[in-house]
Amino acid sequence: MITTIGDLDRRLRQKEMEEKLKRMGKKYLVMSGKGGVGKTSICSSLALAKAQKGASVGLMDVDFHGPNIPAALFLEGRIQVDSEGRLVPMKARENLHVLSIQNLLTLPDEAVLWRGPRKLRAILQFIGEAAWPELDYFFIDSPPGTGDEALTCAKYISDLKAILVTTGQALSLVDAAKAYSFLLATGTSTIGLVDSMGDLICPHCKKEIIIHDKALVEALAQKLKLPILARVPWDLEAAGLSESLSKPIFEAAPSSVFTQKILELAEKL
Ligand SMILES: Nc1ncnc2c1ncn2[C@@H]1O[C@H](COP(=O)(O)OP(=O)(O)OP(=O)(O)O)[C@@H](O)[C@H]1O
Ligand SMILES: [Mg+2]
Repeated sequence: MITTIGDLDRRLRQKEMEEKLKRMGKKYLVMSGKGGVGKTSICSSLALAKAQKGASVGLMDVDFHGPNIPAALFLEGRIQVDSEGRLVPMKARENLHVLSIQNLLTLPDEAVLWRGPRKLRAILQFIGEAAWPELDYFFIDSPPGTGDEALTCAKYISDLKAILVTTGQALSLVDAAKAYSFLLATGTSTIGLVDSMGDLICPHCKKEIIIHDKALVEALAQKLKLPILARVPWDLEAAGLSESLSKPIFEAAPSSVFTQKILELAEKL
């Protein structure tokens, strides 16, 4: 039963958001338990891979305290507001539309000092009050862990699917298992794990140097009953070229192992 104007307003907004979400294609949350495992690199690369194939792609950065998507895409400038007061996602490519708090800050080094409710409102605004075009894919880059940002996405996007990124490092595996319990508890379906940074491609001899035994992530996959969707190695050459050419890692070296692994992963979505 509707009891207050606030209640009514919330329900109307949720309905409006559901209508919007129907036009936003397949939705993927790239998440992890531990930080620094490669989420932003993987998420931005998947968005580029799908856009490169001609799909209409949206990319939303909900890592408000470390919004790295614009840096990963070398996307500068400020988000504009249209005549209806809606945020206009920035075009990183002709068919790749991006929203990140970073492109709304007055100063690039500004910190976002928000508690949960403010982040909830920002995510609802990013989805429901932004001028997204019709999309085939909608990727969400999240901060590490199971905080407000992931919770809001899981709660409001009913057809959300998660891609859980981990390295073979012990703490990352422990935290990935926690992240998976969060996904189960929120009823979010998880399509699988990405084993990130398990090998290092030597920039000199191009051979693989094992950093973490593959068996470690395999054991986690068995425990959680999840498939390993991809193994994305440390690719120092691709990362180096990305910086020197000021291009996203996915585009800096098209024949790199990194890019090939992302293309294979994108095919599975
Ligand atoms: N496969 C890779 N090969 C080489 N460098 C990589 C690879 N994946 C990530 N990196 C680099 O490692 C660093 C951390 O990656 P990234 O920012 O994608 O992780 P994250 O999980 O998003 O971190 P956070 O939890 O802080 O958001 C970045 O500098 C990125 O460029
Ligand atoms: Mg990140």
